[in-house]
Amino acid sequence: MTDFRNKVVYQIYPKSFKDSDGDGVGDLRGIIEKLDYLAELGVDYLWITPFFLSPQKDNGYDVADYTAIDPRFGSMEDFEELVNAAGKRGLKIMLDMVLCHTSDQHLWFQKALGGDETYRRYYILRDGRNKKGPEDPGEPPTNWQCAFGGSAWQWEPRLGKWYLHLHDVSQPDLDWTNPRVREELAGVVRFWKERGVAGFRFDVINLISKPERFEDDTEGLGRRLFADGPHVHEYLRELVASAGLEGMVTVGEMASTDLENCLLYTRPDAHELSMVFNFHHLKVDYRDGDKWALMEPDIMELKRLFAAWQTGMAEGGGWNALFWCNHDQPRIVSRFGDEKTYRKESAKMLAACIHLMRGTPYIYQGEEIGMTNPGYTSIDQYRDVESLNHYQILLDKGKTEGEALEILSVRSRDNGRTPMQWSEEPHGGFSEAEPWIPVAANFAEVNVASDLGEKDSIFSFYRELIRIRKEMPIVAEGGIWFLEEENPDVLAYERRWNNESLIVLCNFRRQYARLIKGCVSDYEKDGYRKRIGNYQGTGAGLRPYEVIVYHKVG
Ligand code: NOJ
Repeated sequence: MTDFRNKVVYQIYPKSFKDSDGDGVGDLRGIIEKLDYLAELGVDYLWITPFFLSPQKDNGYDVADYTAIDPRFGSMEDFEELVNAAGKRGLKIMLDMVLCHTSDQHLWFQKALGGDETYRRYYILRDGRNKKGPEDPGEPPTNWQCAFGGSAWQWEPRLGKWYLHLHDVSQPDLDWTNPRVREELAGVVRFWKERGVAGFRFDVINLISKPERFEDDTEGLGRRLFADGPHVHEYLRELVASAGLEGMVTVGEMASTDLENCLLYTRPDAHELSMVFNFHHLKVDYRDGDKWALMEPDIMELKRLFAAWQTGMAEGGGWNALFWCNHDQPRIVSRFGDEKTYRKESAKMLAACIHLMRGTPYIYQGEEIGMTNPGYTSIDQYRDVESLNHYQILLDKGKTEGEALEILSVRSRDNGRTPMQWSEEPHGGFSEAEPWIPVAANFAEVNVASDLGEKDSIFSFYRELIRIRKEMPIVAEGGIWFLEEENPDVLAYERRWNNESLIVLCNFRRQYARLIKGCVSDYEKDGYRKRIGNYQGTGAGLRPYEVIVYHKVG
């Protein structure tokens, strides 16, 4: 069996996980302190988001030196200790490789600014349009927009060109058509592999191959022109071969991708990646596809997307990374669940819903105790460049401050970046100092210590889901078929493997929900036995946010 199918990954955002030295910022030694907790949960891999040297304009996704550890997070000795201490507990480390762009503070960009031709060719530099003379920058080369708002091009007099940045202006995109760039980046990956890293997550890796011709996007902001670009598969195969990634666990973050490409990225015979993240299911509450326009989640659309991706990937032999949360997403309980009355129930339902699908599940720090959005009410509480930019954009579009703050409180990436709530101690036990970003106000009730103190904790539910994956090969190996497709309230599917069947029934509503099939307990008449659920017993329908998992052999 391929190594990653029955594994579970836990994502750590180091800045907000645990501060060991009292400066208000989490660090590598803080992770070491919490390894027993993670081992207890039962996960296999720890994906740690970037802790490399960085000016932190985009919280570490702006890398100034790929092989140096930012002192605010620790030292290389701390990292080695982390790898060893994790290994002793059966935990492996996955690192986050940001290979689409660097920071503008990276030596390569600095040399390019200094006029070094070799390094100018590391980046994507173009002349402006409609230049009125040699000194005139003209206009941006295309109408493409960057992910955080505004043009994806920046005029730089020291380069005498516009440079492309698909993210922040401080994150110039690397030119992957240059073989030397590709070789340098493969060297970075090898560097970490040699230090005991067992897997990699590749940041926005489907944006590395830009179109042959740079032209305006007449239908949108450019994304469709540079996502899954012309040479992306070739570059990935080359990276895998030259960095020696075959057999390691690799996951690609795929922005605005499609099923066809994701099959190519992950089919074992393609020799690209183990699995991919796609984000379509996390846009079902974007009104007209606009992240900054609020809407209740469209559960029917969520069901359709899961069905299409799950069955499509299964039929084509691809493999999904399964997730609700990460450092770019609001908390799922606040989003598709009920953070107040049914926080525990909905946290568990959402967990079972994806952990038992076909793919490898990812747990984002705090998800295993049902952490919620912090409900910030002032712009001073936000740190994220995307949130701060879009706050201004919303005001410019005529929203009031109150309306803009309301939108941020639902959509900001900072919702997922608040300090991990370990206890009811000051700052949630995350740090002895004021954290770099405010802790959520509910830390006294929602924290690891209080969750672990309850007999039906969310943590123990997650642990049980992980145990089920390890004990029942059907979870990792089985096929998937969706049920109740016309049911507006219930997401349901069946996994099948050999002569076994697993039925997962999830009520996404605050109200009692019925099955089209009939009574829930009819499954019991058919010989199914309840394997796990978030309520006692079974009824005719599903209680608010109820999940029931049935199993049958034969
Ligand atoms: C995706 C990362 O998850 C996000 O946090 C970052 O801002 C962008 N890629 C750019 O690196």
